[in-house]
Amino acid sequence: MHPDLERILFDEKTILEKVKQLGAQLSSDYHDKNPLFICILKGASLFMADLVKRVDVHMEMDFMAISSYGASSQSSGVVRILKDLERSVEGRHVVIVEDIVDTGLTLKYLRDTMVHRHAASVRIVTLFDKPSGRKVDIAPDYYGFTVPNAFIVGYGLDYSEHYRNLPFVGVLKSDIYATSEPD
Ligand code: XMP
Ligand code: MG
Repeated sequence: MHPDLERILFDEKTILEKVKQLGAQLSSDYHDKNPLFICILKGASLFMADLVKRVDVHMEMDFMAISSYGASSQSSGVVRILKDLERSVEGRHVVIVEDIVDTGLTLKYLRDTMVHRHAASVRIVTLFDKPSGRKVDIAPDYYGFTVPNAFIVGYGLDYSEHYRNLPFVGVLKSDIYATSEPD
């Protein structure tokens, strides 16, 4: 447990079990496709590292950073590329690896971008899905857990860049938003 958390939703063992299942599913779906796994920094970094170890296929990895929230816990709806991919996605089977889908704005932007760049196919795997937050009609192709409409941190997910290193995921106490100054 961590003093800034109200409660733990998923412990380390539960998360890794789920990541293994997702890895097995992706291994079977992509065995002959030489997929390009794209990690969306920084939130999906821990998930990506654990996931690709369980994806038993010939594949490549790339990384992209986009801004969606800034330091606040509210979605701005503004998506901007901070770091782009190193290689072209043209003709590639792309798997976008996300930490959490909330409003769906980021996901929609990313999918549209990959389609626009002529990827052969685009699917999204997210560890967490928060369907109650949706503002656009979009769903991930693979997801680990559905989460309630609360702000969660840990296992890559942050509040103002903190808590990403926690090996478990929990709900942040609401007085943390009230007392800490976002960067
Ligand atoms: P949208 O709203 O575009 O947002 O689907 C996806 C991105 O928003 C962040 N996000 C969160 N980050 N705890 C977090 O630490 C949360 O509960 C949460 N909900 C959304 C996250 O960066 C994700 O990639
Ligand atoms: Mg984030």
